[in-house]
Amino acid sequence: MKKNSFLFSTKGIVLATFLSLNTAIYAQKTAEAAPITERTLSNILEKNRTYYTQGKVADYIPELGKMDAKAIAFSVVDKNGKIYNSGDVNKKFTMQSISKIIALMVAVTEKGESNVFDKMGYFGSDKPFNHFSNLETTGKPLNPMMNAGAILTTSLISGEGEKPFLKVLDMVRYITKNQGIEYNKSVYESEKATGHRNRGMFYIMKNSGLISGNEDQLDNYFKQCSIELTAEDLAKIGYFFANQCIRFDGDTTYKNAEIAKLVESQMLTAGMYEFSGEYSRMVGLPSKSGVGGGITVSVPGKMGIGVFSPSLDQHGNSLAGYHMILDLAKQYNLSIF
Ligand code: DON
Repeated sequence: MKKNSFLFSTKGIVLATFLSLNTAIYAQKTAEAAPITERTLSNILEKNRTYYTQGKVADYIPELGKMDAKAIAFSVVDKNGKIYNSGDVNKKFTMQSISKIIALMVAVTEKGESNVFDKMGYFGSDKPFNHFSNLETTGKPLNPMMNAGAILTTSLISGEGEKPFLKVLDMVRYITKNQGIEYNKSVYESEKATGHRNRGMFYIMKNSGLISGNEDQLDNYFKQCSIELTAEDLAKIGYFFANQCIRFDGDTTYKNAEIAKLVESQMLTAGMYEFSGEYSRMVGLPSKSGVGGGITVSVPGKMGIGVFSPSLDQHGNSLAGYHMILDLAKQYNLSIF
């Protein structure tokens, strides 16, 4: 046999293929296993920092328009509950629509899933968050992530006056283990003064008998949207739903795999509004955005991610936030697909 002929023999080709395949699998495994560090987060953050110039801070709620467009933060809670932060980690912002997943959890825990979803659908979103959608036809909101469904969900939480809101606030404080969390009264007043479209939805649902209470219930929705927190708090919320409603420090008081699955499925199909389908393809992780500039992400069975950058794309999702999540998901193979 000549010197190089082994390489071209059948056995040689099989061996070479086996070795290169093994190397590829090993490389993929080590990439997956590589630990997340604050360095990783800050590299990704710096790469995406300037995306804010391509978006716009929400100003349809006047008080939101005062946010610093340049602020940016990136947090991760890993599988073991360890926290990693980068950027403006102390910067607070209002959770806005992210509060919808907490209200859903509270309502379903109290009333049971069937008593919530006989009044609204499990449909994915292909419409903007404040769309009336089929309220005028079937009368029922598409899902609990769009404003109509979220207003209805909050109205289903029991208690007089602001009691339902306080339950949502308490749950946010519990999940984040942060008793200092409050709502921003100026943002709340601003939403209440300008939220006529939401008021319209509230009264259509009252007209069709889905809502039975008074405007206190709508105020509770405005208040929950005005809860202020940080990117780290969002990462802890993402961790909670990723891990069967177990808190990042291992506390199992609310452990419930079914509620976690329900919330994550809604995040995946409707959490990023009409961008949810494309987002599923690109990122492939249950996520929920808010017009305050935050996004919370659950990596099922693993970690939670929280991002913040108030400049939004045309759908109302944080632009730099989306790109930071996308980069992290690619780098660590996080997509569920
Ligand atoms: O109801 C509203 O318009 C706001 N309080 C919440 C909307 C929101 O965050 C949509 N998210 N991307």
